[in-house]
Amino acid sequence: MKELGLWNGSFNGRESTLQQLAPYIGKLKSGIVRSLIRHFTKPGDWILDPFSGSGVVPLEALLLGRRAAATDLSIYGYCLTRGKAESPADIDDAVARTGRMLRYVERHKSDFDLRSVSEWVRSFFHPKTLREILAAYEFCHAKKDYFLAACLSGILHHQRPGFLSYPASHMVPYLRTQLFPREVFPHLYEYRPLAERITKKIHRAYRRSLIVKKWNRDSYDIRLADARRLPFECNSMDFVLTSPPYYKALDYARDNRLRLWFLGEPDWHKLEERLTTRVGTYESEMKQCLAEISRVLKPGSYCAMVVGEVRKNGKTRDTGTILGLSAHEASGGDLTLDSMLEDEIPAVRRSRRGTSTTRTEKLLVFRKTLNSTAKIISHA
Ligand SMILES: C[S@@+](CC[C@H](N)C(=O)[O-])C[C@H]1O[C@@H](n2cnc3c(N)ncnc32)[C@H](O)[C@@H]1O
Repeated sequence: MKELGLWNGSFNGRESTLQQLAPYIGKLKSGIVRSLIRHFTKPGDWILDPFSGSGVVPLEALLLGRRAAATDLSIYGYCLTRGKAESPADIDDAVARTGRMLRYVERHKSDFDLRSVSEWVRSFFHPKTLREILAAYEFCHAKKDYFLAACLSGILHHQRPGFLSYPASHMVPYLRTQLFPREVFPHLYEYRPLAERITKKIHRAYRRSLIVKKWNRDSYDIRLADARRLPFECNSMDFVLTSPPYYKALDYARDNRLRLWFLGEPDWHKLEERLTTRVGTYESEMKQCLAEISRVLKPGSYCAMVVGEVRKNGKTRDTGTILGLSAHEASGGDLTLDSMLEDEIPAVRRSRRGTSTTRTEKLLVFRKTLNSTAKIISHA
Protein backbone atom coordinates (compact mmCIF):
# COMPACT_ATOMS: atom_id res chain seq x y z
CA MET A 1 0.00 0.00 0.00
CA LYS A 2 2.90 2.32 0.83
CA GLU A 3 4.26 2.14 -2.69
CA LEU A 4 0.84 3.07 -4.01
CA GLY A 5 0.75 5.92 -1.48
CA LEU A 6 -3.00 5.44 -1.21
CA TRP A 7 -3.36 6.44 2.43
CA ASN A 8 -0.85 9.27 2.46
CA GLY A 9 -1.66 12.95 2.39
CA SER A 10 -4.99 14.65 2.10
CA PHE A 11 -7.13 14.59 -0.99
CA ASN A 12 -9.71 17.09 0.34
CA GLY A 13 -8.27 20.02 -1.61
CA ARG A 14 -8.53 18.16 -4.91
CA GLU A 15 -11.66 16.06 -4.65
CA SER A 16 -15.10 17.09 -5.85
CA THR A 17 -16.63 19.44 -3.27
CA LEU A 18 -19.82 17.38 -3.69
CA GLN A 19 -17.99 14.74 -1.63
CA GLN A 20 -18.17 17.19 1.28
CA LEU A 21 -21.95 17.64 1.52
CA ALA A 22 -22.15 16.28 5.06
CA PRO A 23 -19.93 14.41 7.54
CA TYR A 24 -19.88 10.61 7.76
CA ILE A 25 -17.86 8.40 10.06
CA GLY A 26 -15.67 5.82 8.36
CA LYS A 27 -15.75 7.70 5.04
CA LEU A 28 -13.42 6.39 2.34
CA LYS A 29 -10.81 8.69 0.91
CA SER A 30 -11.93 9.69 -2.58
CA GLY A 31 -8.36 9.57 -3.93
CA ILE A 32 -8.09 5.87 -3.11
CA VAL A 33 -11.50 5.25 -4.64
CA ARG A 34 -10.56 7.09 -7.84
CA SER A 35 -7.33 5.09 -8.27
CA LEU A 36 -9.12 1.78 -7.75
CA ILE A 37 -11.96 2.65 -10.14
CA ARG A 38 -9.49 3.70 -12.83
CA HIS A 39 -7.46 0.54 -12.30
CA PHE A 40 -10.31 -1.99 -12.33
CA THR A 41 -12.95 -0.51 -14.67
CA LYS A 42 -13.63 1.29 -17.92
CA PRO A 43 -16.26 3.93 -18.75
CA GLY A 44 -19.81 2.59 -18.76
CA ASP A 45 -19.07 -0.26 -16.30
CA TRP A 46 -21.40 -0.87 -13.35
CA ILE A 47 -19.69 -0.38 -9.96
CA LEU A 48 -21.47 -1.54 -6.82
CA ASP A 49 -20.93 -0.35 -3.27
CA PRO A 50 -23.19 -2.48 -1.01
CA PHE A 51 -22.27 -0.39 2.08
CA SER A 52 -22.26 3.02 0.43
CA GLY A 53 -22.38 5.25 3.54
CA SER A 54 -21.85 8.82 2.36
CA GLY A 55 -21.70 7.73 -1.28
CA VAL A 56 -18.03 8.36 -2.00
CA VAL A 57 -17.75 5.35 -4.33
CA PRO A 58 -20.94 6.01 -6.36
CA LEU A 59 -20.10 9.68 -6.86
CA GLU A 60 -16.51 8.98 -7.98
CA ALA A 61 -17.88 6.29 -10.32
CA LEU A 62 -20.33 8.75 -11.90
CA LEU A 63 -17.74 11.53 -12.16
CA LEU A 64 -15.49 9.08 -14.01
CA GLY A 65 -18.21 8.10 -16.50
CA ARG A 66 -19.00 4.73 -14.90
CA ARG A 67 -22.42 3.63 -13.64
CA ALA A 68 -23.16 3.31 -9.94
CA ALA A 69 -25.21 0.86 -7.90
CA ALA A 70 -25.41 1.14 -4.12
CA THR A 71 -27.19 -0.02 -1.01
CA ASP A 72 -27.09 1.11 2.61
CA LEU A 73 -29.44 0.35 5.47
CA SER A 74 -29.18 3.80 6.99
CA ILE A 75 -31.57 6.45 5.67
CA TYR A 76 -28.77 8.98 6.25
CA GLY A 77 -26.30 6.99 4.11
CA TYR A 78 -29.02 6.49 1.48
CA CYS A 79 -29.84 10.21 1.47
CA LEU A 80 -26.20 11.24 1.00
CA THR A 81 -25.57 8.63 -1.69
CA ARG A 82 -28.71 9.44 -3.64
CA GLY A 83 -28.26 13.17 -3.02
CA LYS A 84 -24.82 13.05 -4.64
CA ALA A 85 -26.06 10.94 -7.56
CA GLU A 86 -28.97 13.35 -8.07
CA SER A 87 -27.00 16.54 -7.52
CA PRO A 88 -27.94 19.39 -9.86
CA ALA A 89 -25.88 19.68 -13.04
CA ASP A 90 -24.47 23.10 -12.09
CA ILE A 91 -24.68 25.92 -9.57
CA ASP A 92 -27.51 27.72 -11.42
CA ASP A 93 -29.66 24.61 -11.26
CA ALA A 94 -28.74 24.15 -7.58
CA VAL A 95 -29.64 27.75 -6.73
CA ALA A 96 -33.00 27.44 -8.52
CA ARG A 97 -33.86 24.28 -6.56
CA THR A 98 -32.86 25.98 -3.32
CA GLY A 99 -35.02 28.99 -4.17
CA ARG A 100 -38.09 26.76 -4.56
CA MET A 101 -37.38 25.17 -1.20
CA LEU A 102 -36.95 28.53 0.54
CA ARG A 103 -40.25 29.82 -0.86
CA TYR A 104 -41.93 26.70 0.55
CA VAL A 105 -40.25 27.33 3.92
CA GLU A 106 -41.56 30.91 3.98
CA ARG A 107 -45.11 29.72 3.30
CA HIS A 108 -45.14 26.79 5.74
CA LYS A 109 -42.77 27.50 8.62
CA SER A 110 -45.52 28.63 10.94
CA ASP A 111 -47.54 25.43 10.38
CA PHE A 112 -45.39 23.43 12.80
CA ASP A 113 -46.30 22.77 16.40
CA LEU A 114 -42.96 22.28 18.15
CA ARG A 115 -44.57 20.25 20.94
CA SER A 116 -44.62 17.34 18.49
CA VAL A 117 -40.82 17.48 18.24
CA SER A 118 -38.86 15.33 20.70
CA GLU A 119 -37.42 17.39 23.52
CA TRP A 120 -33.83 16.31 22.88
CA VAL A 121 -34.15 17.50 19.26
CA ARG A 122 -35.69 20.82 20.34
CA SER A 123 -32.80 21.40 22.74
CA PHE A 124 -30.45 21.90 19.77
CA PHE A 125 -32.25 24.78 18.05
CA HIS A 126 -33.77 28.21 18.40
CA PRO A 127 -37.55 27.68 17.88
CA LYS A 128 -37.66 29.96 14.82
CA THR A 129 -34.76 28.12 13.20
CA LEU A 130 -36.31 24.76 14.03
CA ARG A 131 -39.58 25.68 12.27
CA GLU A 132 -37.62 26.57 9.13
CA ILE A 133 -35.64 23.33 9.28
CA LEU A 134 -38.83 21.28 9.66
CA ALA A 135 -40.43 23.01 6.67
CA ALA A 136 -37.28 22.52 4.58
CA TYR A 137 -37.11 18.77 5.31
CA GLU A 138 -40.84 18.51 4.59
CA PHE A 139 -40.20 20.04 1.15
CA CYS A 140 -37.31 17.63 0.49
CA HIS A 141 -39.46 14.70 1.52
CA ALA A 142 -42.39 15.72 -0.67
CA LYS A 143 -40.18 16.44 -3.70
CA LYS A 144 -37.79 13.52 -3.04
CA ASP A 145 -34.99 16.07 -3.18
CA TYR A 146 -32.17 14.06 -1.58
CA PHE A 147 -29.53 16.56 -2.63
CA LEU A 148 -31.07 19.41 -0.64
CA ALA A 149 -31.79 17.04 2.27
CA ALA A 150 -28.10 16.08 2.26
CA CYS A 151 -27.04 19.75 2.24
CA LEU A 152 -29.40 20.51 5.14
CA SER A 153 -28.03 17.55 7.07
CA GLY A 154 -24.53 18.89 6.48
CA ILE A 155 -25.27 22.21 8.21
CA LEU A 156 -27.48 20.87 10.99
CA HIS A 157 -25.12 21.01 13.95
CA HIS A 158 -21.85 22.71 14.83
CA GLN A 159 -20.93 25.89 16.71
CA ARG A 160 -19.72 27.75 13.62
CA PRO A 161 -21.89 30.59 12.27
CA GLY A 162 -22.75 28.73 9.05
CA PHE A 163 -24.62 26.04 10.97
CA LEU A 164 -28.15 25.87 12.32
CA SER A 165 -27.86 24.59 15.89
CA TYR A 166 -26.84 26.08 19.19
CA PRO A 167 -23.12 25.36 19.81
CA ALA A 168 -22.61 21.64 19.22
CA SER A 169 -20.05 19.29 17.76
CA HIS A 170 -20.16 18.51 14.07
CA MET A 171 -19.59 14.77 13.60
CA VAL A 172 -21.59 13.66 16.61
CA PRO A 173 -24.50 15.70 18.02
CA TYR A 174 -23.45 16.90 21.47
CA LEU A 175 -24.42 20.35 22.72
CA ARG A 176 -21.44 22.38 23.92
CA THR A 177 -23.29 24.44 26.45
CA GLN A 178 -20.55 24.06 29.07
CA LEU A 179 -17.82 25.21 26.72
CA PHE A 180 -20.01 28.02 25.38
CA PRO A 181 -22.39 29.04 28.21
CA ARG A 182 -25.38 31.08 27.09
CA GLU A 183 -24.54 33.96 29.49
CA VAL A 184 -21.05 34.37 28.01
CA PHE A 185 -21.87 33.66 24.34
CA PRO A 186 -25.48 34.88 23.90
CA HIS A 187 -25.02 35.36 20.13
CA LEU A 188 -24.52 31.60 19.72
CA TYR A 189 -28.07 31.05 20.98
CA GLU A 190 -29.81 33.50 18.70
CA TYR A 191 -32.11 32.70 15.78
CA ARG A 192 -30.06 31.37 12.85
CA PRO A 193 -31.93 32.04 9.60
CA LEU A 194 -31.84 29.07 7.23
CA ALA A 195 -31.87 30.97 3.90
CA GLU A 196 -28.39 32.50 4.03
CA ARG A 197 -26.82 29.35 5.49
CA ILE A 198 -28.24 26.89 2.98
CA THR A 199 -27.42 29.26 0.10
CA LYS A 200 -23.77 29.47 1.19
CA LYS A 201 -23.70 25.71 1.64
CA ILE A 202 -24.92 25.18 -1.95
CA HIS A 203 -22.20 27.50 -3.24
CA ARG A 204 -19.56 25.59 -1.25
CA ALA A 205 -20.86 22.32 -2.74
CA TYR A 206 -20.34 23.67 -6.28
CA ARG A 207 -17.00 25.41 -5.72
CA ARG A 208 -15.27 22.47 -7.45
CA SER A 209 -17.95 19.98 -8.44
CA LEU A 210 -15.74 18.31 -11.10
CA ILE A 211 -18.89 17.44 -13.08
CA VAL A 212 -17.73 17.38 -16.69
CA LYS A 213 -20.88 15.93 -18.21
CA LYS A 214 -23.95 15.29 -16.10
CA TRP A 215 -24.93 11.63 -16.17
CA ASN A 216 -28.49 10.55 -16.84
CA ARG A 217 -31.02 8.65 -14.72
CA ASP A 218 -30.02 5.27 -16.22
CA SER A 219 -26.52 5.62 -14.83
CA TYR A 220 -27.30 4.88 -11.20
CA ASP A 221 -29.41 2.61 -9.02
CA ILE A 222 -29.31 3.60 -5.34
CA ARG A 223 -31.38 1.62 -2.82
CA LEU A 224 -32.22 1.76 0.87
CA ALA A 225 -31.58 -1.95 1.32
CA ASP A 226 -29.75 -4.66 3.22
CA ALA A 227 -26.50 -5.92 1.68
CA ARG A 228 -27.55 -9.41 2.77
CA ARG A 229 -30.25 -9.32 0.08
CA LEU A 230 -28.88 -7.18 -2.73
CA PRO A 231 -31.68 -5.92 -4.97
CA PHE A 232 -29.63 -6.43 -8.15
CA GLU A 233 -29.53 -9.05 -10.88
CA CYS A 234 -27.16 -11.99 -10.90
CA ASN A 235 -23.91 -11.37 -12.87
CA SER A 236 -24.76 -7.68 -13.40
CA MET A 237 -21.84 -5.81 -11.77
CA ASP A 238 -18.43 -5.19 -13.32
CA PHE A 239 -16.71 -4.27 -10.06
CA VAL A 240 -17.55 -4.11 -6.37
CA LEU A 241 -15.73 -1.50 -4.31
CA THR A 242 -16.67 -1.03 -0.68
CA SER A 243 -15.66 -0.54 2.93
CA PRO A 244 -17.87 -2.82 5.01
CA PRO A 245 -18.73 -2.11 8.64
CA TYR A 246 -16.07 -3.39 11.05
CA TYR A 247 -17.72 -4.93 14.08
CA LYS A 248 -18.79 -2.23 16.50
CA ALA A 249 -15.91 0.13 15.84
CA LEU A 250 -18.11 2.99 14.63
CA ASP A 251 -21.65 3.94 15.63
CA TYR A 252 -23.35 4.71 12.34
CA ALA A 253 -26.75 5.08 14.00
CA ARG A 254 -25.99 6.79 17.32
CA ASP A 255 -23.50 9.28 15.90
CA ASN A 256 -25.97 10.41 13.24
CA ARG A 257 -29.04 10.42 15.48
CA LEU A 258 -30.01 14.06 14.94
CA ARG A 259 -29.71 13.84 11.13
CA LEU A 260 -31.57 10.51 11.22
CA TRP A 261 -34.39 12.11 13.20
CA PHE A 262 -35.04 14.73 10.52
CA LEU A 263 -34.78 12.13 7.76
CA GLY A 264 -37.56 10.04 9.29
CA GLU A 265 -35.75 7.59 11.60
CA PRO A 266 -36.80 8.91 15.04
CA ASP A 267 -35.35 5.99 17.02
CA TRP A 268 -31.71 5.37 16.13
CA HIS A 269 -31.64 2.23 18.32
CA LYS A 270 -33.91 0.48 15.82
CA LEU A 271 -31.46 1.16 13.00
CA GLU A 272 -28.54 0.05 15.12
CA GLU A 273 -30.19 -3.31 15.73
CA ARG A 274 -30.42 -3.93 12.00
CA LEU A 275 -26.85 -2.98 11.03
CA THR A 276 -24.19 -5.62 10.49
CA THR A 277 -21.95 -4.51 13.33
CA ARG A 278 -22.85 -6.67 16.34
CA VAL A 279 -20.09 -8.94 17.62
CA GLY A 280 -22.28 -12.05 17.96
CA THR A 281 -23.69 -11.96 14.42
CA TYR A 282 -21.08 -10.01 12.46
CA GLU A 283 -19.33 -12.96 10.87
CA SER A 284 -22.43 -14.84 9.80
CA GLU A 285 -24.05 -11.67 8.41
CA MET A 286 -20.89 -10.70 6.51
CA LYS A 287 -20.82 -14.18 4.98
CA GLN A 288 -24.31 -13.57 3.64
CA CYS A 289 -23.12 -10.25 2.19
CA LEU A 290 -20.11 -11.93 0.57
CA ALA A 291 -22.38 -14.55 -1.00
CA GLU A 292 -24.56 -11.78 -2.39
CA ILE A 293 -21.59 -9.81 -3.70
CA SER A 294 -20.42 -12.93 -5.46
CA ARG A 295 -23.87 -13.53 -6.95
CA VAL A 296 -24.18 -10.07 -8.51
CA LEU A 297 -20.59 -9.85 -9.81
CA LYS A 298 -19.93 -10.83 -13.40
CA PRO A 299 -17.72 -13.93 -13.73
CA GLY A 300 -14.04 -12.97 -13.81
CA SER A 301 -14.72 -9.57 -12.17
CA TYR A 302 -13.14 -8.15 -9.02
CA CYS A 303 -14.30 -7.03 -5.60
CA ALA A 304 -12.05 -4.66 -3.63
CA MET A 305 -12.70 -4.06 0.07
CA VAL A 306 -11.06 -1.62 2.42
CA VAL A 307 -11.29 -3.16 5.87
CA GLY A 308 -9.89 -2.29 9.25
CA GLU A 309 -8.48 -4.15 12.15
CA VAL A 310 -10.46 -3.26 15.25
CA ARG A 311 -9.01 -2.94 18.76
CA LYS A 312 -11.57 -2.59 21.48
CA ASN A 313 -11.68 -3.54 25.13
CA GLY A 314 -8.23 -5.10 24.89
CA LYS A 315 -9.22 -7.42 22.02
CA THR A 316 -8.10 -7.19 18.42
CA ARG A 317 -10.41 -8.29 15.65
CA ASP A 318 -8.85 -8.41 12.25
CA THR A 319 -11.80 -7.97 9.91
CA GLY A 320 -9.58 -8.27 6.84
CA THR A 321 -8.31 -11.71 7.74
CA ILE A 322 -11.79 -12.86 8.77
CA LEU A 323 -13.32 -11.80 5.46
CA GLY A 324 -10.31 -12.99 3.47
CA LEU A 325 -10.67 -16.46 4.98
CA SER A 326 -14.45 -16.75 4.77
CA ALA A 327 -15.19 -15.36 1.29
CA HIS A 328 -14.32 -18.55 -0.59
CA GLU A 329 -16.63 -20.74 1.45
CA ALA A 330 -19.38 -18.11 1.75
CA SER A 331 -19.53 -17.75 -2.03
CA GLY A 332 -19.70 -21.47 -2.71
CA GLY A 333 -16.12 -21.42 -3.97
CA ASP A 334 -16.68 -18.56 -6.44
CA LEU A 335 -14.68 -15.76 -4.75
CA THR A 336 -10.95 -16.21 -4.39
CA LEU A 337 -8.64 -13.84 -2.54
CA ASP A 338 -6.42 -12.35 -5.23
CA SER A 339 -4.32 -10.00 -3.07
CA MET A 340 -4.21 -8.38 0.35
CA LEU A 341 -2.32 -5.16 1.02
CA GLU A 342 -1.90 -3.69 4.47
CA ASP A 343 -1.12 -0.22 5.70
CA GLU A 344 -0.91 1.67 8.96
CA ILE A 345 -3.44 4.48 8.96
CA PRO A 346 -1.88 7.83 9.86
CA ALA A 347 -3.48 9.17 13.06
CA VAL A 348 -4.96 12.16 11.21
CA ARG A 349 -6.92 9.80 8.97
CA ARG A 350 -8.59 7.89 11.77
CA SER A 351 -12.29 8.42 12.21
CA ARG A 352 -11.87 8.64 15.94
CA ARG A 353 -8.63 10.37 16.72
CA GLY A 354 -7.03 9.58 20.03
CA THR A 355 -8.71 6.20 20.31
CA SER A 356 -7.19 2.93 19.35
CA THR A 357 -10.17 1.52 17.50
CA THR A 358 -8.68 1.12 14.02
CA ARG A 359 -4.95 1.34 13.41
CA THR A 360 -4.40 -0.58 10.24
CA GLU A 361 -6.45 -0.97 7.12
CA LYS A 362 -6.22 -3.67 4.52
CA LEU A 363 -7.19 -3.65 0.91
CA LEU A 364 -8.58 -7.07 0.01
CA VAL A 365 -9.06 -7.90 -3.64
CA PHE A 366 -11.22 -10.90 -4.54
CA ARG A 367 -11.90 -12.30 -7.98
CA LYS A 368 -14.99 -14.19 -9.02
CA THR A 369 -14.20 -17.34 -10.93
CA LEU A 370 -14.98 -17.49 -14.64
CA ASN A 371 -16.76 -20.82 -14.17
CA SER A 372 -19.27 -19.95 -11.48
CA THR A 373 -21.65 -22.73 -10.57
CA ALA A 374 -23.69 -20.65 -8.17
CA LYS A 375 -27.44 -20.88 -8.36
CA ILE A 376 -29.17 -17.98 -10.06
CA ILE A 377 -31.29 -16.29 -7.40
CA SER A 378 -32.49 -12.77 -7.93
CA HIS A 379 -33.67 -10.24 -5.34
CA ALA A 380 -33.94 -7.50 -7.95
C1 LIG B 1 -17.63 1.91 6.71
S1 LIG B 1 -19.24 2.53 6.38
C2 LIG B 1 -19.18 2.91 4.66
C3 LIG B 1 -18.58 4.25 4.41
C4 LIG B 1 -18.53 4.61 2.94
N1 LIG B 1 -17.60 3.77 2.21
C5 LIG B 1 -18.14 6.07 2.76
O1 LIG B 1 -17.10 6.35 2.16
O2 LIG B 1 -18.86 6.93 3.27
C6 LIG B 1 -20.26 1.10 6.45
C7 LIG B 1 -21.73 1.33 6.10
O3 LIG B 1 -22.40 0.08 6.12
C8 LIG B 1 -23.76 0.32 6.46
N2 LIG B 1 -24.33 -0.99 6.83
C9 LIG B 1 -24.11 -1.74 7.93
N3 LIG B 1 -24.75 -2.92 7.85
C10 LIG B 1 -25.38 -2.93 6.64
C11 LIG B 1 -26.18 -3.90 5.95
N4 LIG B 1 -26.45 -5.10 6.47
N5 LIG B 1 -26.64 -3.58 4.71
C12 LIG B 1 -26.36 -2.39 4.16
N6 LIG B 1 -25.62 -1.43 4.76
C13 LIG B 1 -25.14 -1.69 5.99
C14 LIG B 1 -23.69 1.40 7.53
O4 LIG B 1 -24.90 2.11 7.62
C15 LIG B 1 -22.52 2.25 7.01
O5 LIG B 1 -23.00 3.32 6.26
